[in-house]
This record gives sequence, C-alpha cells and structure tokens, in this order.
Amino acid sequence: MKNILVTGGCGFIGSNFIRYLLSESDFSGRVINVDSLTYAGNPENLDGIDTEFKDRYVFVKADICDRAAMSEVFDTFQIDTLCHFAAESHVDRSIAGPDAFIKTNINGTFNLLELARQNMNRLVLFHHVSTDEVFGSLGSDGYFTETTAYDPSSPYSASKAASDHLVMAYSRTYNMPVTLSNCSNNYGPYHFPEKLIPLMILNALEEEPLPVYGNGQNVRDWLFVRDHCRAVWLIMQKGRRGETYNIGGRCEMANLSVVELICDIMDEMVPIDGSRRRLITFVKDRPGHDLRYAIDCGKIEKELGWLPEESFETGIRKTIKWYLEHQDWVTRIKTGAYMEWIESHYQM
Ligand SMILES: NC(=O)c1ccc[n+]([C@@H]2O[C@H](COP(=O)([O-])OP(=O)(O)OC[C@H]3O[C@@H](n4cnc5c(N)ncnc54)[C@H](O)[C@@H]3O)[C@@H](O)[C@H]2O)c1
Repeated sequence: MKNILVTGGCGFIGSNFIRYLLSESDFSGRVINVDSLTYAGNPENLDGIDTEFKDRYVFVKADICDRAAMSEVFDTFQIDTLCHFAAESHVDRSIAGPDAFIKTNINGTFNLLELARQNMNRLVLFHHVSTDEVFGSLGSDGYFTETTAYDPSSPYSASKAASDHLVMAYSRTYNMPVTLSNCSNNYGPYHFPEKLIPLMILNALEEEPLPVYGNGQNVRDWLFVRDHCRAVWLIMQKGRRGETYNIGGRCEMANLSVVELICDIMDEMVPIDGSRRRLITFVKDRPGHDLRYAIDCGKIEKELGWLPEESFETGIRKTIKWYLEHQDWVTRIKTGAYMEWIESHYQM
C-alpha cells in the first residue's frame, strides 16, 4: 500500500483515521484525502496534518459521484488502495430527505468500485466502511454477527446496505480484493454536533435541554473512534480478502444512561448549581427507531487479535475533555463561521 485514497477524510471518522494513519500507525506511504466538503466535512479537523506531513498528505476537494474528477485522482496519484468513508451519515437527515443518501452512498460507491476495477492491475485493496445499522433491530437479547441477514430500517441504513452488497458483488464477480467492516456507533473528538453525544455535551455545557427520543431505552453499542481506526487499519493489513468484520466497543448502553453519565461527568468537570440530569427532556420518538443494536466482534478478536482499548467511561471522559478544550472549533461549527475558515484556507 503506497497511495491510499481516503474518501470522506474531512468528516468525523475519516479525519481521525488519517490522523491515526499518519501519526500513530506503521504506514509509510501517502494519503490522498478526497472530500466534497458537505456540511459534515470540515478540513479544520485535519489542521496541522498538511504541514506536519507535507510530503505524505494531499487534499483534493471532489465529489465521489463525479467519475471524471475521481478518475483524474486515480491517475494523478496512482491510487493502489482505498479506504472508503465518504457518505451521508445522519439517520434523521435521511428521513427528511433521502436523495443525497442514495446518490452518495450508492452511486458514489459504485463509481469508486468501477474506477477500482479499471485500475485492477495496481489495486491492493478496496476497504469499505459500513455500519451495524444494515442489520436492522435486535430484541432484548442476541447480537449481530457477520452472517446476520441484512434488514435495514432507515433510508440511511438501506443505502449503506446497498453499497455493502455492491462491494461484496465486486469481490465475487471481478475477484476484486475487498474488505468490509460494519461498526457500531462511534464517539470521540471531531464529532459533528448534530449527533447524540456531542449534542448532549454541548447542550449540557450551555445548560440547555437535553432531548432524548421516546423513553430513552433504545440501546446502542458505543465504540471510541480511535479503537475503530485501529481496527480498520488492522483489517486493511491483515484481514482476509472478501471478508466482512464486525467492530464494536463492547459497550452496550441505553440512550438515557449515556445522557445521564454525560450529565454526571460534566457536573464533576464543570460544576453548576444542582445536577444537569434535570435538563433531560423526552421528545417524540424517531420514526422506525431501531430498539437495540449489539455487536458480536468475536471474529476480529479471534482472527486479528483486536480488542477495544477504551471502556465507555474512559472514552467519554476523553471525549468530554476534548470538547471542553476545543470550544473555538465548536463555536466555528455552530455559527457556520468555519465556512469562512474553509474559504480562506482553501481559496475556493
Ligand atoms: N459515525 C458513526 O457512528 C458511524 C457508525 C457506523 C458507520 N459509519 C460510517 O462511517 C463513515 C464515516 O462516518 P462519519 O460519522 O465520519 O460521517 P461524517 O458525516 O462525519 O463524514 C462524512 C464525510 O464524507 C464527505 N462526503 C459526503 N458526501 C460526499 C461525496 N459525495 N463526495 C465526497 N465526500 C463526501 C463529507 O463531506 C464528510 O467529510 C460513513 O460511511 C458511515 O456510514 C459511521
């Protein structure tokens, strides 16, 4: 792997992955980050990387749905490996307007697969990053394994399921070297504040209401983003080609418990009069809201020796601390001022 194309590298997980790859892993090649900078893409997430790794990091603003632009990227940078994160990723937005999800998540992935197929002579790997939401909802027991049947509930998870099927079909039909990972809910630094955990941290800081869907008993497994990045890189290096791997944090929690723990840690770190738990406000449930996701990640543990390093308690403390220390990042995102930062930085 010499020239890795990372798509969606200015988003939450993609930017953490690029930081991990360049600063912490044994990778010695070049990262080509392609991102179209939607509302969720923020090059500031990689601030400093372009200067620190001048010879090993390139940013290209392009849409993965644009075949000509992506073809140029493949040729110019002699792409031999892909790690594909770019997606529309927010379930609530997919319910309000599914079009962009179909376009980017399905057509965009198809475009990249076609370009990878045209460049098979030098292709080392196409790694596709997906979600446990493709498996639908669990009852109060059981776990998703790599053989659980797909049963997506939202336009988001249906579009990711479609992209997963395309990736596996390219492996079987064209013998393309692919790996695929389905992970649970990530949290950590650089998470866009529309998602549950950063939203709760920031609202708790401002002492604003903490909106919790339904009765708060929906259960999710939480994966610290750096643990996820380690797992993806391990799969890319050592995972069997044509295989999928589940990645989970072994941290199953009801949404309400997550919010209560955030309140308690925030009370400890930034004390106020009384407890922030009083800010919790139950709101009308999300349509098609899956009850429970839980991941069996025994395959990656057994085959590749991966284990999450963070518990939810340690990971959430690190996350809260990061948000408290990066108030300027938060303010720029919240006020939309980071668009000015992007324009001045990249002269678009
Ligand atoms: N966040 C999670 O908890 C989670 C869980 C499971 C799986 N995933 C998957 O991981 C991947 C990354 O998720 P995330 O949370 O970092 O998402 P994100 O929304 O934070 O980032 C997505 C990035 O993709 C870029 N992008 C979107 N459309 C594009 C296009 N057409 N062309 C080029 N770039 C485009 C955006 O600008 C953004 O930088 C996604 O594929 C998502 O489905 C995320």
